[in-house]
Amino acid sequence: MERKALYAGSFDPVTNGHLNIIERAAGMFDSLTVAIVVNPNKKCLFTVDERVEIAKEVTKHLPNVHVDKFSGLLADYVNAGGFAAVVRGLRVTTDFENELQMAQMNARLFKGSTETVFLMTDPNYSFISSSLIKEVATLGGEVSGLVPDYVVLRIENKLQEESK
Ligand code: COA
Repeated sequence: MERKALYAGSFDPVTNGHLNIIERAAGMFDSLTVAIVVNPNKKCLFTVDERVEIAKEVTKHLPNVHVDKFSGLLADYVNAGGFAAVVRGLRVTTDFENELQMAQMNARLFKGSTETVFLMTDPNYSFISSSLIKEVATLGGEVSGLVPDYVVLRIENKLQEESK
């Protein structure tokens, strides 16, 4: 039976920290779906379709990775897709409390035997978040090395567009 995993998030934009989790999870499961959440309460730099397009581009070297988007409950998406695991990255100890809460709530909502699986973030990327990348880039700071080169370009283009 195919062992499918899901890695969900806002990915606004996808960072090298995310990509590291994606590459490792893709090696652990038969397939990995990167699902971009449509969250109307989170102000995003990129539209959901742009985030899907960016995620597809930076994962194109990984044949068992698929990119999708969803709105509503993660558990509904999981229950419909028959995922064996939901992958989460843990960066710092403060991530743990939120993750524990979410994993335990999701465990109640999952209909099958889906497990939440935690991977420790590569220490090179444990200090980054998408918001911090956007803040630094917006203020003219260097973000290359922290996000894929394609994302650096997309951020530059987006900031140029927004300044017009
Ligand atoms: N490397 C770099 N950054 C990372 C990272 C890593 N390995 N892991 C997490 N981050 C960053 C993310 O970029 C994000 O940054 P931001 O807040 O600046 O955008 C931050 O850490 C938080 O990440 P995450 O917890 O994954 O939040 P998210 O908004 O990306 O995704 C969902 C959260 C989608 C998993 C969650 O909101 C969800 O399940 N939503 C659906 C609704 C639902 O089911 N709710 C009930 C849940 S029990």
